[in-house]
Amino acid sequence: MAVEAEPTSLKLQRYSGFGSCGIPPLALFPSDWSFSGSGTDSGRPEENELQRSAAVVQGRSRHTVSDDLTPSLIIAVDGPAASGKGSIASRLAAHYGLPHMDTGLLYRAAGLKVLASGGDLGDADAATRAAESVTPGDLIDETALTSRGAGEAASRVASHPGVRAALLKLQQDFARQAGGAVLDGRDIGTVIAPDAPVKLFVTARPETRAHRRWLQLTGRGEAIAFDDMLADIIRRDERDAGRGAAPMVMADDAVLLDTTEMDIEAAFDAARRVVEAARVRHGF
Ligand code: DC
Repeated sequence: MAVEAEPTSLKLQRYSGFGSCGIPPLALFPSDWSFSGSGTDSGRPEENELQRSAAVVQGRSRHTVSDDLTPSLIIAVDGPAASGKGSIASRLAAHYGLPHMDTGLLYRAAGLKVLASGGDLGDADAATRAAESVTPGDLIDETALTSRGAGEAASRVASHPGVRAALLKLQQDFARQAGGAVLDGRDIGTVIAPDAPVKLFVTARPETRAHRRWLQLTGRGEAIAFDDMLADIIRRDERDAGRGAAPMVMADDAVLLDTTEMDIEAAFDAARRVVEAARVRHGF
């Protein structure tokens, strides 16, 4: 199992999280993801459509939602913006041959939908409707999804309980695929997959994270001053950690990984060792 492989999907490129350190693109859905078996029908047509369409778009199927009690390698990677969690999650998914979901994209898509319809990000009903209507087509425009504005919009709509409820089952079903999955976000280890056998909370100093994100955005032509980037990061941290619904918080049983002084290789190696220790502990 511990054989380095190509990422299962290279559908969406995201922030590298480590500036110009040569991070591979992050994956959203696995190339062979499908849902089957009982318990996968949410009763919400649009959600099931999203699940099925994602599988179809990505090709052949292999994974199925697990109905048995066999433990599976669910790896929960949480942490604040530009901590490197996405890059680490992507690398872990490639290494263990697991599907990977970048859950932030769902919130980004919902936020962009509200903005596109001229709505107010503070309007809980409008934001919930937007989240309920997210389809795979909303997850394709990489440039829009990874813009500074999308991150801010995502953080704002993510504070509405209705938005989180709308996106909950999709993420939980993804986590429960037979064989396991890697998910990164803010509440994976606490809400989406509280029983995950591996939980990482990835962080770094705000200045380091702001610098990484500043390099990424300016590198692709977005004009932004470093101080504004730092203010963005701090404001987003406060909002994500301070909201009432599923706040960003380290799970009691998560391992803290501070990447301030690490490049992606060092961070991935540290994360891989955490997973290996958990595999021994849980007998995977
Ligand atoms: O990981 P990201 O930067 O793409 O996330 C964008 C925003 O989405 C983040 O500021 C908060 C929200 N989010 C969330 O509330 N829960 C998640 N599991 C993932 C993202």
